[in-house]
Amino acid sequence: MKRRKIKFGLVGLGRLGYEHTKNLSESIASAELVAICDMNEEALRTTAEEFDIPKTYTDFEEMCKDPEIEAVVIVSPSMFHVNQVKIAMDAGKHVFVEKPLDTSIEKCKECEEIVAAHPELTFSIGFMRRFDKSYKIAKQKIDNGDIGRIILVRSYCQDNKKFIDMAIKFGPHSGGQFLDMCIHDIDTIRWFAGGVEAREMWGIGGCYEYEEYKNWNDGDNVSALIQFEDDTMGFMFAGRAAAHGANIETEIIGTKGTLRIAAVGTDSLLEVLSENGVCRECYPDWQARWHDAYIDELADFADCIITGRKPEVTVQDGTKTLEIAYRCKESFESKKMLKMRD
Ligand code: NAI
Repeated sequence: MKRRKIKFGLVGLGRLGYEHTKNLSESIASAELVAICDMNEEALRTTAEEFDIPKTYTDFEEMCKDPEIEAVVIVSPSMFHVNQVKIAMDAGKHVFVEKPLDTSIEKCKECEEIVAAHPELTFSIGFMRRFDKSYKIAKQKIDNGDIGRIILVRSYCQDNKKFIDMAIKFGPHSGGQFLDMCIHDIDTIRWFAGGVEAREMWGIGGCYEYEEYKNWNDGDNVSALIQFEDDTMGFMFAGRAAAHGANIETEIIGTKGTLRIAAVGTDSLLEVLSENGVCRECYPDWQARWHDAYIDELADFADCIITGRKPEVTVQDGTKTLEIAYRCKESFESKKMLKMRD
């Protein structure tokens, strides 16, 4: 039987929007990308040509009026997310929105109401690590009780220094390292530990190489130590400029054993033997590291629409992760260890 294809529209053709556009156009059997939207007309034209996308829009609201579109993928800058969720859902579209859900907690709460007002529509958020093969196996083992009670989750996330100019350009509207990068680690820890709430946190870091980050009260490298309500400890580190390339590591230490998703620093089995010894190259960028997960999260979203199954990632996950990220940011800015709630 031929599978139904969900007709998608997408907004935001930047670094990740391009990836999602490519994946929806070429790699997801249950999706058809019929329209794209961006204010940048050149990006619109070239992307539409490259992937043979029939409709282009410079106005998101106009795109959402298109009756052919069933679902919308929002990959615009984070501060526009919830406004665009509202426009899309009020126009009757299913919505997949990128992380973070927005850059303010008020907006996230507003989003909870918007989603609740549209129970007939499918909604999810782009926490793609949950779709990565290694993370999925780790989650199964944790749920199976293989490592006992979780003591600590350690999660590192570093971008390749080669792309620092792009990262600096993106910085001012990213919401800062804690909201932009650590949000993935926070979601990972909550997911592994079964939705636990944070009790207290200490965010630290600084500008070790790129002073630009000071302009928006941020650091180029930051970390945070979090203790959760059930005593689980979380340690996360986010760096914008790793000399060796993109690297993501997660370790889960339990009472009966440890899981480590670390030895995945490369996308090939290539080893270079030279006067420097034996070298395996890191992932060039995060797009390469999460390539399959980006495809699988959107394929799963389309499947949820087709089958009526509820996506695992909820709007509440968007709010809870942002609340923790924000508190870590406040801790970093005030140089104080903070309780989650005063
Ligand atoms: P970007 O800055 O590279 O691209 C944003 C695009 O949106 C640009 O093409 C810009 O012209 C367009 N745009 C801005 N305002 C618009 C509007 N009002 N209407 C239509 N188009 C508009 O940003 P990037 O890196 O692609 O990030 C986009 C979103 O994706 C952010 O929320 C970010 O947090 C998220 N993201 C998620 C990642 C993940 O691993 N899940 C990785 C990278 C980004």
